[in-house]
Amino acid sequence: MKMPNLMESKKRGQSKVEIIRDDFVLDDSLKKIGKDKKYYIKTYGCQMNLRDSESFKALLEEMSYTATDNYEDADILLLNTCAIRENVHNKVFGMLGRIKHLKGKKPNIIVGLAGCMSQEEVVVEKILKKYKWMDFVIGTHNMHRLPQVIDEAIKKRGLEVEVWSKEGDIIENVPVKRDSKYKAWVNIMYGCDKFCTYCIVPYTRGKQRSRMPEDIIKEVKELVSDGYKEVTLLGQNVNAYGKDFANLKYNMSNLLEDVSKTGIERIRFVTSHPWDFTDDMIEVIKQNKNIMPYFHLPIQSGSDKVLKLMGRRYNRQSYLELFNKIKKAIRNATITTDIIVGFPNETEEDFKETLDIVDECKFDGAYTFIYSPRAGTPAAKMQDNLSLMEKEERLQRLNALVNKYSRLSNEKLLNQTVPVLIEGYSEKGNDTLMGYTDTFKLVNVVGDKKHIGKIVNVEITDVKSWSLNGRVVDAD
Ligand code: 5AD
Ligand code: SF4
Repeated sequence: MKMPNLMESKKRGQSKVEIIRDDFVLDDSLKKIGKDKKYYIKTYGCQMNLRDSESFKALLEEMSYTATDNYEDADILLLNTCAIRENVHNKVFGMLGRIKHLKGKKPNIIVGLAGCMSQEEVVVEKILKKYKWMDFVIGTHNMHRLPQVIDEAIKKRGLEVEVWSKEGDIIENVPVKRDSKYKAWVNIMYGCDKFCTYCIVPYTRGKQRSRMPEDIIKEVKELVSDGYKEVTLLGQNVNAYGKDFANLKYNMSNLLEDVSKTGIERIRFVTSHPWDFTDDMIEVIKQNKNIMPYFHLPIQSGSDKVLKLMGRRYNRQSYLELFNKIKKAIRNATITTDIIVGFPNETEEDFKETLDIVDECKFDGAYTFIYSPRAGTPAAKMQDNLSLMEKEERLQRLNALVNKYSRLSNEKLLNQTVPVLIEGYSEKGNDTLMGYTDTFKLVNVVGDKKHIGKIVNVEITDVKSWSLNGRVVDAD
């Protein structure tokens, strides 16, 4: 049994990160475990988790499991979890309640927990006390060991916990089964060293480790030759890419330039921290048409006092300078953001400064959250005098404003023709297609199935706060 330890995961040592490039081979004894059995994966949280689940799927399929969308049909159930806010914990434990019921009827099913919640001591302790009927818990740093952990759990017939508190090496070549044939997530770095005071990520994902440029470029080139149209470069703080290289001077703007040269039609990147965003990056994005004019630039708060308490390293003014620089340099740039309301002791004045900066920036979209204390983070120790009711009321006021600007931003596209990568059918039904514009706006599109997988011109015929409707024009 290997338990998580928050104090350990907080430490940042000088230990060298090895890059393991061996071919991924699974022991023959593990390859048959899933024969005639089905797997079900539920993914919570960010794009990083979606990408990890694509590797979990590949690993389970290497073990001969096949996929099912219905958890009640599955022989193995894996919850790939997120730790960023308490409400995700509640959803995960709610799901585990339903699965417990299922296990009562089908005692042979295997149930596992993966992702960021596995890295939290409080979660694993709760599982050991109240969820002993589960089969395994696997951490984020050893996720490639899923087959071995499942094997252990089956042999042991009891709860197997394998969570490494310290980040390990970078393992290249872990298999992946991508969800889409047209757009792909590409990890460029793991972990985060920013330690914003409210955030659990530097503990659950470990210290920043950048993948080598040649490995990233190789992956993107393979995607191009497999017919992929779009890549999203992934990291918790992509602008800090390369800062951890000991002997290599190579940063995010170099990487963007080299990925652009692969000829992939669309490049996106998330998430950016305003602190590390350089002028060189803006210049490279401006010069290269295959880098999309879309920026997710979390501001978190409009109050300098709160930003300081959050440990964000920029203030209102420097954020605005960056924001305006991007808008000026890049025609049709869209900028979205993340905002937290109700950080400990946020006053009405502080909150008004947030509303005020939203008024000033008129964000094209924003993800808004009520602050959620995370055990072990510095902010969780700050005394908080705000009631949940006040926080909810602030969130509502903020959302009304955010929706107004999101809609205004969409309205500018009415009757315009914009490029959309058609990804497949929309949830709307009626053979409606869906895809995203270069500026990352979701569009429901009237078109033909032959357009799926292509970037086509779409005329916008109707707008909503969070999506657009359109129809394909002048495509083959
Ligand atoms: N409480 C609420 N929101 C949080 N986020 C990160 N940590 C917390 C927390 N403890 C939000 C931030 C971040 C986004 C991914 O989640 O806005 O940018
Ligand atoms: Fe968390 Fe992002 Fe701050 Fe890193 S930069 S600590 S992931 S909010």
